[in-house]
Amino acid sequence: MAFVIAVDGPAASGKGTIATRLGAMFGLPVLDTGLLYRGVGVLTERAGADPDDPRAAGAIAATLTAGQLDDPALRTRAAGELASRVAIHHPVRAALLDFQHTFAGQPGGAVLDGRDIGTVICPQAPAKLYVTATPEVRAERRWKQLKGQGEDVGYDDVLADIRKRDARDGARDAAPMVAAPDAQLLDTTEMTIEQAADAARRIVEAARARWEGSQETT
Ligand code: DC
Repeated sequence: MAFVIAVDGPAASGKGTIATRLGAMFGLPVLDTGLLYRGVGVLTERAGADPDDPRAAGAIAATLTAGQLDDPALRTRAAGELASRVAIHHPVRAALLDFQHTFAGQPGGAVLDGRDIGTVICPQAPAKLYVTATPEVRAERRWKQLKGQGEDVGYDDVLADIRKRDARDGARDAAPMVAAPDAQLLDTTEMTIEQAADAARRIVEAARARWEGSQETT
């Protein structure tokens, strides 16, 4: 397979920033797969359908296009909650598979970040990271981000959101959030973004060297 970097982890762990940095460092396109679920959640609600109805949300997922992912409404707190709700449905996850596989299959490789990239979407990815941080630190990062976007929200509410989403994303039976057995754990609790990006680069460089070695022998 092409050189795919799978970056998984819980909400606001830093995985999105790390994925973007890795894309720039290694010259690879980046897909934030959370946007797909955010898109399905927001579009389902806009259509007046029920996000908790697997068939309704699955039908919307089947119509999702790349052009719909730029909408700033997908970055809100409400969109994150809707995303986590529609993400438990098997038909939603099935409808989004092709898009993710096509992105991952680009000849030069790709970076994908999400919850199930290293376990379900690209289990053969040559480089896998599972990025974590304590719920409190993640809540603080997400709270600052939301405030920066102009959302009027308190830290305690953001922490409660994070805990609820961790529980829902980790407990669902469809592709639950879990580290792949062969993923490298990266705990960013005590790290600046520069330190986290640097640690991620070292992990990926080592994986790339192994991958290049395996390409020569096949
Ligand atoms: O990464 P994020 O916060 O944008 O993700 C929003 C929600 O989407 C998350 O709570 C669970 C879901 N999601 C998922 O189930 N699988 C993915 N690969 C990415 C996101």
